[in-house]
Amino acid sequence: MAFSKRTIDDLEIPEGGGVFVRVDFNVPLKDGEVTDDARIRQTVPTIEALRERGAHLVLASHLGRPDGRDPETSMEPTSRRLGELLGAHVHQASEVIGPEVRREVERLEPGEILMLENLRWESGETDNDDELAHELADLADVYVNDAFGASHRAHASVYGVPQHLRPAVAGKLLEKEVTTLTELIEDPQQPFVVVLGGAKVSDKIGLIERFLEVADAILIGGAMCFSFFRAQDIPTGDSMVEEDDIEVARRVLEKAEDSDCDLRLPVDLVAGRAFEEDTERQELDGVEVPDGWMGLDVGHRTVEGYREVIEGAAQVFWNGPMGAFELAPFAEGTRAVAEAVAESEAKTVVGGGDSAAALASFGLADSVTHLSTGGGASLELLEGKELPGVEVLDDA
Ligand code: 3PG
Repeated sequence: MAFSKRTIDDLEIPEGGGVFVRVDFNVPLKDGEVTDDARIRQTVPTIEALRERGAHLVLASHLGRPDGRDPETSMEPTSRRLGELLGAHVHQASEVIGPEVRREVERLEPGEILMLENLRWESGETDNDDELAHELADLADVYVNDAFGASHRAHASVYGVPQHLRPAVAGKLLEKEVTTLTELIEDPQQPFVVVLGGAKVSDKIGLIERFLEVADAILIGGAMCFSFFRAQDIPTGDSMVEEDDIEVARRVLEKAEDSDCDLRLPVDLVAGRAFEEDTERQELDGVEVPDGWMGLDVGHRTVEGYREVIEGAAQVFWNGPMGAFELAPFAEGTRAVAEAVAESEAKTVVGGGDSAAALASFGLADSVTHLSTGGGASLELLEGKELPGVEVLDDA
């Protein structure tokens, strides 16, 4: 499937020129260290390609959702990790913009990299403030977006800067993400099986409706199954149910009746007394959850059924855990689905967020065809929405 935007492959960089690269280094940190560097690793091909052409690079990203300047959310751990991956020093700017940053950019030699401070330290970033966009645009000669995970945000660095800085093109990661995810839905290999988990049906309603049109089967797990059970008047005990989700689930069930897609719900569950690791646990024979108990994982029969469907697929998309996988006694359903996806011969794509974290925690991150670096961005793209950060780039 042809990508409709210009990419770094057809980008001319002026002699001694600088490239502004928007990356998504919004990664988890613990004690000042990056605990999952997938988003950083996946931008290395773009960064290397630009350095090889003699450009100096100004990298910019957000990290977390700080309210103003907050040293806890400095980009420093990410620039250190990037430096390790590249085997080269990455300069860390002390600010996002300002005279000192401009001097730091001027000092860059060909191939050198400066990482700006956390864009969200400036309130103008999320407001798409034009003055901030101008200041950022003045730091370089061309613009590259490789921040797929942030491309659904019409923020200054994603949408505002390219209004002032052309050419504006896609990096390799952005191109790969958009091409793979679009192909999944517009040119699906069949049977196409979708595994969906997570807490809320309403968060994923756009996605479910789209998949009902193109997928052969949708396998539901995670807390969202309780909204479906309530819509069918099945008791859910103390399980997590969002009242306003029940009506949404009812509508999905009706649509599924009228579609050719096989929408499956769990047939058995594992329940606990509380959302705690050492809570009392019982394996339920069906899906009725007694009072005083909450469903925290799918059961063995459900896993076996889902595994069989996944084995017969030509293409699998998985988003959202099957249960409370962060609590060891309730991780089995998610682990079994992760293993089935990883062992499948099919084209396997895993949407970012919790399912990516689950896959990584089971050591299976390298066993799928594509592990998306986008959470919200991948869901919006699959729903058929335009991403502002892609739409604003130069057409091919
Ligand atoms: C993400 O982690 O999904 C992206 O980096 C976007 O972050 P945000 O939801 O804080 O805008």
